[in-house]
Amino acid sequence: MRSFMGRDMLSLKDLERNEFFHVLDVAEELEPIARERRNVDLLSEKTLVVAFYQPSTRTRLAHEAAMHRLGGHVTGFADAKMTRAGDFYQESIKDTVKMLEFYGDVIVMRHFQQGAPHEAAKWASIPVINGGDGWGEHPTQILTDLYTVYREKGQIDGLKWLAVGDMRMRTMHSLAYALTQFDCPITFVSPPEMSLTDEFKAELEQYSLDFKEAGHVEEAIADADVILVEPVVQPDYTKSRDERAGDVGLTPANYKITRDLLANKAKSDAILLHSLPRMDEIPPDVDITKWSRYWQEAFNGVVVRMALLALVLGAME
Ligand code: CP
Repeated sequence: MRSFMGRDMLSLKDLERNEFFHVLDVAEELEPIARERRNVDLLSEKTLVVAFYQPSTRTRLAHEAAMHRLGGHVTGFADAKMTRAGDFYQESIKDTVKMLEFYGDVIVMRHFQQGAPHEAAKWASIPVINGGDGWGEHPTQILTDLYTVYREKGQIDGLKWLAVGDMRMRTMHSLAYALTQFDCPITFVSPPEMSLTDEFKAELEQYSLDFKEAGHVEEAIADADVILVEPVVQPDYTKSRDERAGDVGLTPANYKITRDLLANKAKSDAILLHSLPRMDEIPPDVDITKWSRYWQEAFNGVVVRMALLALVLGAME
């Protein structure tokens, strides 16, 4: 297996099957530190630089929390408007990263432009982790979902997935790439205007992903072991910031997971994932059901980022 030390984490297309399992195993090894709310000194000589050009609650703070749990340091920005990239100068990714690489040992970047972390990685002499790029990918989120499945079900292979939401979404792209490495059939349910593009479907066919599409969650939920949901009412991910203006509408029943639907149609031992934030696609009364695992995912989000940081910084092999 290739070493993770010094590697960028830009796309789940870049990870081989045994590398997925290695990340999950390292996460499991580090999990007790987070569960016991301890801080250790594994990364005490390392600094994480966060470069967030788009809003985030979970991705930035989970990386920061992970770094703190491992005894490392954190610097960076959460509002690019207050940097030279966001003012009159519109400083380029190249020029920004040529500074950031001297401020720390690893960069996690979220950007509204697809491919921006890849551009950063071209110029940085330190690893770059993609924290979500436009509609592109969100690798660390899907590694978190996989880890949640691994811990909750004790396996990845052999499980059937249902993915509901906007298939243009970066999480959906990373999910599809990840599942190409496993024996995991998946059904995608989305509004027609948010469906998988022909180009992406052709790519998934090349990778031999076993996938199909359906128009309503009711048609597909009964078979699913893992139900992963994202909003269909959501902002434009190609903008640095998309303010809510007026009524944004409600999620149609086709793309909504309700308590009744779960009780009447889902497998009793299926698990329900959502990377959050949510709109109304999972009503709050679903939170207290045997299916929901999104709060567990929030915890796992820290654990997985601990594993990634330890691996790319060479503290774990
Ligand atoms: N799931 C996720 O990426 O959340 P944030 O946008 O809050 O980081």
